Amino acid sequence: MRVAALVLAAGRGERLGASVPKAFLPLAGRPLVVRAIEALAARPEVERIVPVLPAADLARFGALGVVGGGRLAPPVAGGAERQDSMRAGLAALPDGVDLVAVHDAARPLVRPEDVGRVIAAAARTGAALLAVPVRDTLKRARAGRVTETLPRADCWAAQTPQVFRLALLREALAKAEAEGFVATDDAQLVERLGAPVEIVEGDPGNLKITWPEDVALAEAIWRQR
Ligand code: CTP
Ligand code: MG
Repeated sequence: MRVAALVLAAGRGERLGASVPKAFLPLAGRPLVVRAIEALAARPEVERIVPVLPAADLARFGALGVVGGGRLAPPVAGGAERQDSMRAGLAALPDGVDLVAVHDAARPLVRPEDVGRVIAAAARTGAALLAVPVRDTLKRARAGRVTETLPRADCWAAQTPQVFRLALLREALAKAEAEGFVATDDAQLVERLGAPVEIVEGDPGNLKITWPEDVALAEAIWRQR
């Protein structure tokens, strides 16, 4: 199976509120987007990595001089929503790709072995994602009132990479777009087709850098490794 990856880095990092775009924020001295690319490039089965950046930052990315073992594609410009950036990345994939791993640049700490496990699962089933069991009990609420308590043993926090047969993800994206549906993760698009999506238990350390305080936590995890 031929495997490619998208590294989505075209967000604005509004919650982080840093002076640089989030993808360029350093983690232990290297930009998040570079760390995320390196984690994917550590897997020999990933033959192409397409970075998706804000249109205004394509040159800045080029100036980083990321090599990616010769598998790094030229960066492409993302869109207003993450789903738009994903579509732009899919359009840049070479012919003949069977599986695509969609990964957030905001998760620079993913372990290469977990990338390998989720790719292997998707190769078997068509769709798989890394996820961790939730620690807290989840409540559904409306206007400050609990309407439902979700059984904790059934709840998982979705991470990336999420890996799909390329044809399946394209079909799922087309259906979502036709229906005006915007998902918070890619697997949800495939779930809406009724296709099975496998959970691969990942690592709580694969956190998504979202808020300023996440940076120190990510640095601590990096140092610990
Ligand atoms: N992303 C993207 N294109 C967008 C929005 C998000 O490629 N239009 C990417 C981000 O760069 C990030 C990942 O999707 O790597 C997850 O998004 P998030 O953590 O929300 O990052 P931002 O959208 O940049 O942050 P914020 O929502 O705080 O502005
Ligand atoms: Mg966002």
